[in-house]
Amino acid sequence: MKLLILGAPGAGKGTQAKVLAEKYNILHISTGDLLRAEVQEKTELGLKIADDMKMGKYISDEIVTTLLKNKLNSKECENGFLLDGYPRTTAQAKTLSEIAPDIDAVIVISVDDEIILERMSGRIVCADCGQVYHKLNKPPKIAGVCDVCGGLVVQRTDDKYEVVKKRLDIYHNETAPIINYYKSQDLVIRVSGLGYIDDITNKIVDAISKKSASK
Ligand code: AP5
Ligand code: MG
Repeated sequence: MKLLILGAPGAGKGTQAKVLAEKYNILHISTGDLLRAEVQEKTELGLKIADDMKMGKYISDEIVTTLLKNKLNSKECENGFLLDGYPRTTAQAKTLSEIAPDIDAVIVISVDDEIILERMSGRIVCADCGQVYHKLNKPPKIAGVCDVCGGLVVQRTDDKYEVVKKRLDIYHNETAPIINYYKSQDLVIRVSGLGYIDDITNKIVDAISKKSASK
């Protein structure tokens, strides 16, 4: 199974992607996580992109596509993948159609900007394994400690109010238009990102079953 998940920053892509990838036994590839790992490990690339990441700017298509290709060519993807955070530009969508032409479905999670701004102020993530939490909606069992790996749970540097606003603008200008590209290929499954996390997962799973059955 080869899936894409699209949606504004904070729509819940990473939260849903993690559960769905486990369910379908496919690899969850988050380009945001791949880029943050480079920054955290202070690689040559990480040092180059750190400031842009902090300000919520998109990283060049060339850099992101190279990181992605390495993952797609790895053995971890033999059952398929769920791509979270790519494509983000029309150029990336075109590249993807060349390197992975057989996408099964494109999940689009919709959430209004005002709710996203509220949500992001409560997001906290594990600095070690990237597990996502929310101070109110999904807190770790012990405050500040990751349930999965025991790592430190912190706020992302690009989750400041002004930066999230800018990320939303960039999303609407550069990424949202890609949805029409996939609509024209009849691949889009659109779900509301409001409500309980489990209910949203169930809606996505139902829609994927229906789509597979109609093929
Ligand atoms: P990336 O990491 O992909 O960030 P993003 O798209 O801005 O999305 P987020 O991870 O912020 O949100 P999400 O939708 O995953 O939501 P989450 O599940 O965490 O990219 C970061 C940066 O990397 C970019 O800005 C750019 O610089 C660079 N980059 C990455 N890919 C790139 C590319 N292809 N090209 C160029 N640059 C690239 O949920 C958010 C919060 O809400 C959490 O606290 C969660 O617990 C909570 N939540 C989730 N679901 C619900 C619910 N149903 N109800 C209530 N709360 C909920
Ligand atoms: Mg994410």
